[in-house]
Amino acid sequence: MKLFITGGAGFIGANFILYWMKNHPDDEIINFDKLTYAGNLENLHEVERSPQYHFVKGDIRRPEEVSAAMDGADIVVHFAAESHVDRSIMNPADFVETNVGGTQVLLDCALKQKVKRFHHVSTDEVFGALALESTTKFNEDTPYYPHSPYSASKAGSDHLVRAYADTFGLPITVTNCSNNFGPYQFPEKLIPLAITNLLEDKKIPVYGDGLYVRDWLYVEDHCRAIELVLQNGKIGETYCVGGLKDGKGDINNLEVAKKILTLVGKDESYLEYVKDRPGHDRRYAIDWSKIKRELGWEPFYDFDEWLEKTVAWYKDHQDWWSAVKNGSYLAYYEKQYGK
Ligand code: NAD
Ligand code: TYD
Repeated sequence: MKLFITGGAGFIGANFILYWMKNHPDDEIINFDKLTYAGNLENLHEVERSPQYHFVKGDIRRPEEVSAAMDGADIVVHFAAESHVDRSIMNPADFVETNVGGTQVLLDCALKQKVKRFHHVSTDEVFGALALESTTKFNEDTPYYPHSPYSASKAGSDHLVRAYADTFGLPITVTNCSNNFGPYQFPEKLIPLAITNLLEDKKIPVYGDGLYVRDWLYVEDHCRAIELVLQNGKIGETYCVGGLKDGKGDINNLEVAKKILTLVGKDESYLEYVKDRPGHDRRYAIDWSKIKRELGWEPFYDFDEWLEKTVAWYKDHQDWWSAVKNGSYLAYYEKQYGK
């Protein structure tokens, strides 16, 4: 089988390619990626010499590039996106062009090439925010109510994917997952930023009161969920994927930051409260009972175990993140957090 992966040089895409090639060694992988600031081929050094793996540098907004590279693909797994909320507040246009425009180009091409499946990787942020005191969770029937340019652009892409299924019969599946963390995550997102800052003896920037809640999903658990959806998911269906195990309560950002302080061996003087993000969503939580019931998926370990593994990975891979934390990232960091 031949898989066409968009955004495979980014955080989740790279983890997915490594996971897939380990578990499906006979399959062929085309990694189609523009290599924006978030794309890093270092993430794939383990597989770059494999005859089953091919990298194509290309832009999902360009039909001619997509069409040539997608030729002969059985399955498309679409990860490519502008993915960081704070950047979407600085520059919304990039998000609309890539996340909405790029997805539409891919859908057209997938339709022409009669792929067997178009799997779209989306986010729980399309559903908007839950109240802090509530125990409500997002599920597949939750109405869309995005607040940031990022989540609005992902919502637009989700609607287009479903429209291509309803209008043209494209065989699609969609996953809406919660915040991922793990190896190879660009250190602009909370967990890798916090760990690498502490390893550089810098503070963790905590937005607002720090009482914001995310439903943390370890990236390998996410890859396994996508694998199950590709293998046994029903065409046309959406599956919500979350990381919090049954019976576990919410974890807010301050608690995440404090757990990381303990794992790195620093005290609370390394917390720095900074100005809040505009339109900051208070709480996300996912009800993943559908994917459990229909496909037998559930997260393997709980947050504390995965977080410990993740901190250990960043401690062991200083070369990787030091190289990433320079160049254009430095200019972004200064604009976002000041000097
Ligand atoms: P990322 O920012 O780490 O990687 C995105 C990749 O897409 C990069 O390699 C980049 O070079 C590539 N890309 C960007 N624009 C492109 C274009 N025009 N053409 C081709 N390639 C392009 O993102 P991620 O965290 O790996 O997220 C992957 C997907 O998962 C995204 O669609 C995101 O919305 C979704 N998602 C992410 C999370 C999360 O917590 N990271 C949570 C839910 C959903
Ligand atoms: P982030 O990792 O950017 O993911 P998302 O915005 O997609 O949920 O942020 C996760 C949470 O952490 C969110 O509530 C914002 C907060 N946050 C901070 O408090 N400080 C930071 O420096 C960053 C990047 C995020």
